[in-house]
Amino acid sequence: MLTHEQNDQLSRVEGDAPMGQLLRHWAWFPFALSEQIKPGDAPFRVRLVGSDYVAFRAPDGRIGFVDEACPHRGVSLALARNEGCVLRCIFHGWAIDVTGNVVEAPTHSGDSETFLSRIRSQHYPICEAAGLVWVWLGGDPVGEFPAMPFMELPGENVWMTVTRVDCNWLQGVEASLDSAHVGTLHKSWIPKLAASVRQGATIALSLKAVAPNYDVERKPFGLSATALRELDDGSTYVRTTQYVAPFVNIVPGSEQSEGSIFMGVPIDDTHHLLFFGYFSDKIAFDENTPRVQALIGNGRVDRGNFAPFKGTREDRWGQDRALMDQGHFTGFGDNLLEEDIVVQVSMGPIVDRTREHPSSSDVAIVQARMLLLRALRNRNAGEHPLAPHNRGWRAAEASPVDRVTPADQDWRTSVGA
Ligand code: FES
Ligand SMILES: [Fe+2]
Repeated sequence: MLTHEQNDQLSRVEGDAPMGQLLRHWAWFPFALSEQIKPGDAPFRVRLVGSDYVAFRAPDGRIGFVDEACPHRGVSLALARNEGCVLRCIFHGWAIDVTGNVVEAPTHSGDSETFLSRIRSQHYPICEAAGLVWVWLGGDPVGEFPAMPFMELPGENVWMTVTRVDCNWLQGVEASLDSAHVGTLHKSWIPKLAASVRQGATIALSLKAVAPNYDVERKPFGLSATALRELDDGSTYVRTTQYVAPFVNIVPGSEQSEGSIFMGVPIDDTHHLLFFGYFSDKIAFDENTPRVQALIGNGRVDRGNFAPFKGTREDRWGQDRALMDQGHFTGFGDNLLEEDIVVQVSMGPIVDRTREHPSSSDVAIVQARMLLLRALRNRNAGEHPLAPHNRGWRAAEASPVDRVTPADQDWRTSVGA
């Protein structure tokens, strides 16, 4: 159980909030699918940890990322002209290049070189990986890009989507770390999901035990959260989700080196971006790949707005009660992720964690909160957020696990943990 103060410390990211400051200096933030930012397009608006930015792509492929407010007198650069390698503010025509430098200030009549050299550059390093554009908001020194198994795969082996979610980021992160909900919330989707994977169906075993035992271990990147489900024949269904702190969860698929990616990236205190995707070293994904189609009930795939939100509290967020009468467990039949998003949003913009009653299946979530509170204390002490566990790691160490361990074997031996 958390105090109100701890709940605020964990959730709030805007302005001077310590968590917002911590996240900026800790993580690279994904903010768009690469394909959402095209040369010549209007500036792409970005809001992260309560601050507003715009991004644009130059004809040579480089991406510029700058504060939304023009450095001259604050006009929104979302209105700016994209003139190839520069954004030009429509108010007085100042031009800013992809590195964040003001390169023209036509309103200034004196020595323009000296004038321009005095304007603080807004340099935000950008990286493209896994089909996403990532930015570093924390200034110098620039943090290391996190090693994760899907980062090393060819483009077609990673399939990413994004959806804006109207609630706090930590609700999203906690939901994807929570393996216990799979067999309940997603019950009606599991047969379709299980049929879409070649090896059939370990995921269907989630239905067999809705109260898994958890084994949670500290790792150099965050946590390994292993849900253990005892099966009738004495074997154990082992599912390990890797929490790459602060906001990435890598959830097992049906085989090794496959899985799902969930990232809950804070827009501000009460909104986040859910980046969801699949990766596999064997499958080249597109919209027609069976396991993509297995998430969709309405046939529509929009990767830039994957699980759009239909309703409000007043209409039960668009829940279809008639569909429930026909046997659907939740009444959300358009998109599996809609179920995740609805439950998170229904908790309110920032859930009050002082009123909850965590059960044994919530141990990974409780551990993640402790890790984040510790990270805040570490920052105050000038240490790495993950100290004392913060050694480097290989991407393979953050691979998720999905296995059935025979009755006579310890699950750790079986998965090589
Ligand atoms: S406010 Fe942008 S050029 Fe003047
Ligand atoms: Fe889910």
